[in-house]
Order: sequence, then structure tokens, then C-alpha cells
Amino acid sequence: MTNHNLIQLEDIFTYQDKGEWPIVDSHLLSTTYKNRWEMADKLFAELDQDLFNKVNKKVVHDGWQDENIPEKSFSKKLSGSAFSNDDDFMIGPNDWDGRNPKIGDYVQRRKVYIYDWTKDELQHTTEAIDYFVGMHEAFKPVLEHYLYECYSDQLDLIEKLLYKLMIIQYNTPTATEDNRTEHRKFSTERFGDEHCDETLGGLHLGENYTEFRAKNTKSNEWEPIHLVDDKMLWMFGEDAERSGLIPTYHGMQHNPDKDLNTRYSIIFDLSARYKQ
Ligand SMILES: [Fe+2]
Repeated sequence: MTNHNLIQLEDIFTYQDKGEWPIVDSHLLSTTYKNRWEMADKLFAELDQDLFNKVNKKVVHDGWQDENIPEKSFSKKLSGSAFSNDDDFMIGPNDWDGRNPKIGDYVQRRKVYIYDWTKDELQHTTEAIDYFVGMHEAFKPVLEHYLYECYSDQLDLIEKLLYKLMIIQYNTPTATEDNRTEHRKFSTERFGDEHCDETLGGLHLGENYTEFRAKNTKSNEWEPIHLVDDKMLWMFGEDAERSGLIPTYHGMQHNPDKDLNTRYSIIFDLSARYKQ
């Protein structure tokens, strides 16, 4: 088995006490999956309704609107028998506050979800889809390690586990070269709110440029977390509390570098459905 640099539970408790992070170098991220951002680019460039219908035998369309601001924040959701895709929209920055005449600007977050069953359910595939299906397979042992290492005391309560690999893109389709940074900042502020995930945990497999931040478990201060150099971080979700671990509160902080454009991150979630 590939050496994933897995961390033992006693060290994790020590890290949380000291305010350090369960973050390690990943050999796979620096080799086989080095080109993950190019592949993410490819995946989102090719992914349209046509391809989605080809890949998935069954497709369910769904929509979502923020109940308080339905015109400003909404989503299109596609659930397929093989994989799923959500596109989340926020209008703005110009149109958001309503003071200026409307110009139809918006920012977008796109997510692709790869599951345990994706590989067997593909009716059609592409290089990029195969790549991320392979990534699911390659990193699943890391999630299994943390499942048995951190949550063995609650396994009896769990009915079902879900291993969901998320490839996430943040883009600014209506920005110009001149206001790209402003659109990126708006997007990060809208989508990057502080939260902890409704999971047992999640393996953060990096971002193409640094915007991720998390709350230190000792000082409670926000800290930028540098995941760009093939690092991976084990994050704790809210169900980790049942095992005496502190959930990882996280969010995004705008990176003002003028040369930056589309942002990607990859996160592999482990969640539980509990017995009733
Ligand atoms: Fe999250």
C-alpha cells in the first residue's frame, strides 16, 4: 500500500491540545496527482448537460434558492446515477447591493461529487472523469484509516458511511481583466463563510492557491493553512465531537494577488448516517 503518512490518534489529540494541524506531505499528490488542477480545469471545461447525460444512466434535476434572498443566491443541482454536479450562483458584485443599474454580473461555484459507486455506474467516461475516479480509489484508504483511528468508539451507532470526493471550482464568468480581483474577493466572501462540516471528517487535498483558513484549536485564532505544496490536512466535522475531538472550523480568506484567476480545491468527505 502507498505510504500516506497517516497520523495516530494519540498524536491527533496532542495536536489539538497544542493547536497544531494534522497536516502531512502526500507522496501521491506530488507524483500521480501532481496535475490535478489541469485535470480539474479539463473536467469543468467539458462538463455540460450533454456529457452529464451521456455519463449517467439516470439524471435528476433539482434547484435550490436561498429563502431570504432567492434572486441573489441559488443553485442548480444534477444528481446522476454515477456522479453529481452542483452549480451555485451569487449575483454581484455590482448587482448584489442594488444601488447601481443591473448588469447581470455573478460569481459561480461548481462542484463535482464522486462516490464509491461512480466507477461501476459510468455509462461513458473521459480522461478527466477517470482521473478523479482514480483519485477516489487512491485516497479512500486514508479516510478508512481515520475512520478506525478516530471514530472506532461510535462505529456501533453508524448505519451507513458515505465517501464523497468533491472537486470544487470557484470562477468569475462575468469579470473582466480589470475587475477580476474584485469579483474573486466578492466570491470568497460570499462562499467562504466560517463553518464546520456536517461530517465525521474530511481530507483536504489542497487548493491551487492559498485561500483556506481554519481556527486554531488552542488559541481560537484564524490561521491561513498552506496546502498548495502537495500537503493534505485531516479536518474534523461536527460528528467528531462524539469521539471527543474538536471540529475544524474553516472558511476562506481572499488572496489579493492580481494574477490569480479560477480557484480549485479538492476535499474528500467521510460522513455517517446514524442508526435511529
Ligand atoms: Fe467546509
